[in-house]
Amino acid sequence: MYKLKEIADNIYYVGVNDRQKAAFENLWPLPYGVTYNSYLIVDEKSVLVDTVDVCYSDFFLKKIADALNGRPLDFLIVNHMEPDHAGSIRLLRQQYPEVKIVGNKTTFGMLAGYHGITTGLHEVKEGSVLNIGKHEFVFYMAPMVHWPEVMFAYETTEKILFSADAFGTFGTLDGGVIDSEITMTHHWDEMRRYYACIVGKYGNPVQRALQKLKGIEIKTICSTHGPVWREHIQEAIGIYDRLSRYEGEEGVTIIYGSMYGNTEQMAETIAFSLSESGIKNIVLHNVSKSHASDILRDVFKYKGLIIGSPTYSNQVFPEIESIMNKIEIREVKNRIYGYFGSFTWSGAAVKRLAAFGEKMKWETTGVPVEQKQALIENDYEACLALGKAVAEKIRGN
Ligand code: FEO
Repeated sequence: MYKLKEIADNIYYVGVNDRQKAAFENLWPLPYGVTYNSYLIVDEKSVLVDTVDVCYSDFFLKKIADALNGRPLDFLIVNHMEPDHAGSIRLLRQQYPEVKIVGNKTTFGMLAGYHGITTGLHEVKEGSVLNIGKHEFVFYMAPMVHWPEVMFAYETTEKILFSADAFGTFGTLDGGVIDSEITMTHHWDEMRRYYACIVGKYGNPVQRALQKLKGIEIKTICSTHGPVWREHIQEAIGIYDRLSRYEGEEGVTIIYGSMYGNTEQMAETIAFSLSESGIKNIVLHNVSKSHASDILRDVFKYKGLIIGSPTYSNQVFPEIESIMNKIEIREVKNRIYGYFGSFTWSGAAVKRLAAFGEKMKWETTGVPVEQKQALIENDYEACLALGKAVAEKIRGN
């Protein structure tokens, strides 16, 4: 019944859209949904690359059965064991008891732990080859892109890289599957948000994986989330490369907390000054309103970061502490950093913001501003000066 999208000769897309889940990993909002991508290669032997979240196993298994049309499924390549991709393995095994599961030693430890599967395994290592007729797969280990067992499968005939989470994005596939069939709108920012939230901590492993891929001719990338990359392959690789090197674009993210608008006025003044000094990309996030995933996306996107906080119960504003924790976990590097804050009777926030910048080893720029109560002329001028200093550093003046 299902007519499947043929990515290349006898290689089919059998993934699913998730338009129902509110938050990925129960943490990150999905305004555009998300896909769990899976691919079926029908040759002398048949191979499935990854599965889908168990919530969608019913439709998924029907698609595979239609495509195989009575043939057995010979191999399942498991590039990644996170349950958004590995969730349907046990059911797949029940339907195809003879299927050989292809993975590495670490994959098989997780396969036993999550699904109790310990037999019918085909172990691969770096450089192992699996030939299924006209098509052949070479395996590259990519540990910590996003979990330790992650590996890539490279199909040598069509030069397709099955890349697990790498080059993935949030967002469903609304009809089109290959990027050339889709108008790119929210996709690039959703790729940045996906990277920042999910893979952001693992910049060095992503860089190691990218180095490994350098000598390989890749015509198509089949990630586990989002479009199949063909027309925009260089842009997708470029975004992952820059993000994993923590290389920000010209622009500034201002994150601030504010109870009654006094710290917010400081943020507004700094933003005005940044603009007067020629910065065009300026994003203000009220930490009590913006979601952390949007803030993290912009922290990764722009090289300038300015954080402001009122003193709250003799500490930094709690939501600022929370976002600092998320930034620290992701080991964000090389930011041009400024900070400011306010207090009513005793200041603590600015000290905490100073310590945070030092811990992150960022380049603190300009003179931090600490305002008592409402904005007065001196503090206003100091905020303008802070914005100007950060802008000049970013623009290399
Ligand atoms: Fe899409 Fe790390 O799972």
